[in-house]
Amino acid sequence: MQTIAFYNLKGGVGKTATAVNLAWHAARWKHRTLLWDLDPQGAASYYLGVDGSTSYKAATLINGKQGIGRLKQETRWPGLHAIPSDVSLRNLDSKITEAGKARSQLRKLIEPLGESYSLVMLDCPPTLSPVAETIFAAADYLLVPVIPTHLSIRALEQVKTWLKEKKYDHLKVVPFYNMVDRRRLLHVEMLVKRPAVMRGGLKTWIPYSTHVEQMGDHRAPVGEFASHTPAARAYRHLWFELAEKLKL
Ligand SMILES: Nc1ncnc2c1ncn2[C@@H]1O[C@H](COP(=O)(O)OP(=O)(O)OP(=O)(O)O)[C@@H](O)[C@H]1O
Ligand SMILES: [Mg+2]
Repeated sequence: MQTIAFYNLKGGVGKTATAVNLAWHAARWKHRTLLWDLDPQGAASYYLGVDGSTSYKAATLINGKQGIGRLKQETRWPGLHAIPSDVSLRNLDSKITEAGKARSQLRKLIEPLGESYSLVMLDCPPTLSPVAETIFAAADYLLVPVIPTHLSIRALEQVKTWLKEKKYDHLKVVPFYNMVDRRRLLHVEMLVKRPAVMRGGLKTWIPYSTHVEQMGDHRAPVGEFASHTPAARAYRHLWFELAEKLKL
């Protein structure tokens, strides 16, 4: 089992949209896939149609009193399961701190899922809090959507420095560009001459596209309702490139 966290310190950069589209592709390629919506906003749960179908207490999870197996839901796509978001995730930070088990707790919860899944994807909230630390300890790969601007690049550099300082050496950081608009000179420049921090990431980039925005109307990945568009093609390529990198 491999665990991939979709993470960025910055909000609104495409973590959730990418997680949902890649999880859908993974399941289509017969990888048993679980997407855990760790963001109390619940956007991934909404896209996958599993919102409001369960509720759990963050505290009981963190104390190990409840396994997560019970919380998984089937989606309408075969092979793709999800653990919906829950409002109690808002308290996860304080619960983790109270329990004094900052790093290892999420990994312990996820480990038993290896019996049922080959891929676990975590849709993360935009934060560098104790929750983020448990996510970093649990994940093998950190997939980071980056909008090609100087500030986004700086945010990525900050996260990488922080990970190094905190010695999350096992974690492979894999950035890729999202919301690329080739009418913008800066975007083109950053594609052509990639900043050092983007090297080692995925080469495929996702264009700025209204079809991604329409996921909310369709409550589905782009490939389901606009399969011949540049955005759908880009997600497909991103999936192939990731699968190759992870040797899936
Ligand atoms: N490639 C894209 N083109 C156009 N719009 C996009 C693209 N990717 C994401 N979006 C839109 O941008 C908004 C933010 O995307 P998304 O929710 O995936 O970001 P996020 O990083 O998960 O945000 P948050 O930090 O709030 O969890 C959404 O309205 C989404 O539809
Ligand atoms: Mg999100």
